Amino acid sequence: MRTPFIAGNWKMFLDKEKGVGLAEELVKGTEDILDREILICPSFPLLSDVARAIEGSKIQLGAQNLHYEEQGAFTGEISASMLLSIPCSWVIIGHSERRHIFKESNDLVNRKVRSALKQGLKVILCVGELIEERESGKTEDVVREQLVKGLQDVQADGMKDTIIAYEPVWAIGTGKTATPEDADNVQSFIRGILSNSYSEDTARNVRILYGGSVKPANIDGLMAKDNVDGVLVGGASLEADSFLRIISFGE
Ligand code: 13P
Repeated sequence: MRTPFIAGNWKMFLDKEKGVGLAEELVKGTEDILDREILICPSFPLLSDVARAIEGSKIQLGAQNLHYEEQGAFTGEISASMLLSIPCSWVIIGHSERRHIFKESNDLVNRKVRSALKQGLKVILCVGELIEERESGKTEDVVREQLVKGLQDVQADGMKDTIIAYEPVWAIGTGKTATPEDADNVQSFIRGILSNSYSEDTARNVRILYGGSVKPANIDGLMAKDNVDGVLVGGASLEADSFLRIISFGE
């Protein structure tokens, strides 16, 4: 029903040579994969070269950020049409590193989501709580607010091109993974919110990924859960062996 979706977020790692080399290894290693979607999200300067390396393969290309304006005097920023021209079809929006290090608000995240969808990009919208929010029992409040505000004025049609990634901030790059049960509970809560905001049918079709210290050792347990439709992988997506093992979960 929901095709599993395995995404790698390369963050600010890998230069051109290493990135293209990794993409080529992934192309070879995924030739026989049929029943899952695969996405890699390199840094901006690598996008064109990686696009060439994955051409004709099953691997899709995404960016890690964009600006919400279509064009203009915004030094250092990147527009949706620039990404589409590479061609790059996906963009990650609202990653916790953007929210917390670069102070991106829910309002800014929402502008980016609406602009990306309007211009024809597909979106991975990230949500997730800080450790102190989890410990004070605020996980659901935080996730609800990020989701509802992030998707404000996005119509049901836009949800066909939108994936939600639940990334608890305390699990990112720390080696602490949410248990499969923790992930499933929050992700089922997210699906409930989507059902209220849109419809049961829309909510049933939206893929919800888990992200935060996903590794070959924990992928099978996570993917066994009903509401974990895929993963957004950081560190373990930077090496072909570990990312290919994650892609071939369950085998
Ligand atoms: P790690 O897999 O390195 O914890 O990163 C997760 C992440 O932030 C993916 O977007």
